[in-house]
Amino acid sequence: MRTIALYGTIAAIITAALVLFSTQGGPAFASHTYRRLQHPNAPPRPGRAGASIAHSQSYISPKHPWEFSYKRDRRNYGLSEEQCSVAFPKLYKEVDRAVAYRKKRGNVTLEELDVGWRGDGIVRALIHDNQLYIVDAHGVSDANHRPRNIATLHALSRAVTSTSEPLPDIEFTFTDHDSALREGDGDHTTWGYSRLASQESVWLMPDFGFWGWPDVGLRSYAELQSILEADEDDFLDKIPKLVWRGSMNVGSGHDAREGLLKHSADQRWSDVQTLDWSNKTDIHDKLLSMQEHCEYMFTAQTEGNTYSGRLKYLLNCHSVLVSHSMQFIEHFHHLLQPSGPEQNYVKLKRDFSDLPRKIKSLGKPANMPHTKKIANNALQTFRERYLTPAAEACYWRALIRGWASVQGFEPEVWEDSSELIEDWRGGMKGRKVLRGAPFESYVVMESVGWDVPSRPRKVCVDEG
Ligand SMILES: *[C@@H]1O[C@H](CO)[C@@H](O)[C@H](O)[C@H]1NC(C)=O
Ligand SMILES: *[C@@H]1O[C@H](CO)[C@@H](O)[C@H](O)[C@H]1NC(C)=O
Repeated sequence: MRTIALYGTIAAIITAALVLFSTQGGPAFASHTYRRLQHPNAPPRPGRAGASIAHSQSYISPKHPWEFSYKRDRRNYGLSEEQCSVAFPKLYKEVDRAVAYRKKRGNVTLEELDVGWRGDGIVRALIHDNQLYIVDAHGVSDANHRPRNIATLHALSRAVTSTSEPLPDIEFTFTDHDSALREGDGDHTTWGYSRLASQESVWLMPDFGFWGWPDVGLRSYAELQSILEADEDDFLDKIPKLVWRGSMNVGSGHDAREGLLKHSADQRWSDVQTLDWSNKTDIHDKLLSMQEHCEYMFTAQTEGNTYSGRLKYLLNCHSVLVSHSMQFIEHFHHLLQPSGPEQNYVKLKRDFSDLPRKIKSLGKPANMPHTKKIANNALQTFRERYLTPAAEACYWRALIRGWASVQGFEPEVWEDSSELIEDWRGGMKGRKVLRGAPFESYVVMESVGWDVPSRPRKVCVDEG
């Protein structure tokens, strides 16, 4: 009995091997996109000891290739690299661009990781052995930076620890400012939430709002998706108006916001209103939750100080987004499609002068099938694929691998402790310590060094 079972097992293994490795069938996942992530200069990936583990979601067979299923996989933070390629083939454009730029310019040097050029809101960190370490954090504890910095570190750590695949060791910096580079900053190399087309040295990372933006009422990105799935009306039942709320007290997007106000004023189809964040009554009367924005057929997108943090949320609505042409780029902007069968938003002039004509046309009963198609495309492209939490985690890991492929140094993760300790023979010896603070303690202590026992920590939220 035992022998028969054993032979059976061996036969099954051989069959499986033939199926998986036969050159005729080839791997069933999109191997061209998978290879696309293997940059020619990428360091060899450390092999995993032992046979690969087949669990339900990584099982790949020629007959039943793995496919991304929104309902099943949207919160799977640990998709394999192959699955990430199959599920989100068009996601990694910004990583590829940044890598190609460094190939032209030369590898990233250790000197480029200096954080002195940016006074605050900048963090130096490293990833070693699939663990995140914070080496240096500058000016990230005030009410503006603190939630962003903490959210970004959590999102990054989630992507790092949720994979069973080894990630390369890297050292890098990121900034939690609206725009990674200010005018006059030069071309520093860092990770940031947004960049101008001319700022080629910036590596785009998912913004803090993919974790959560509780300061404005967005408690968790995944929760927003749950709420919309459970509660959103059918497109044709939505309020047939254009919705926008926002402050006029912003930087570079001010002109676009003025244009929107001007061209939507006194229109039947408009629910466009400004907010004054310093006026409690105003906020109480007019502020809408993201879910409430999604109750409208049309949502308006405007840039603010730089990019607008709400775009990714608005793209989660099963609605038609109208936007002026944007100057700032986030990691998913290339997926916005202004025309053709895949159209998933409506692109207008920066001053919104074409808004009234466009809204009237989109709202005509005869044009409704076309209008609804735009909303359907947005739903499928964004909420149900490229803006899922699973995609966010895939993007972070592609960013890590892409960075490693042009990292011109080997990160030093160990250093000698300054203190000497006495060994049991009475001699003195140094100790090796890891640089910086592990994520696990950084997020509790909000510091890379502290005394033990520690002083109580204070937070910046006023409970009063
Ligand atoms: C505050 O907002 C309310 C409601 O929009 C408005 O009536 C009031 O004039 C505003 N107050 C100030 C000081 O701007
Ligand atoms: C650039 O860095 C990569 C990854 O560390 C390395 O494989 C490659 O040899 C480096 N290229 C040059 C020109 O130094």
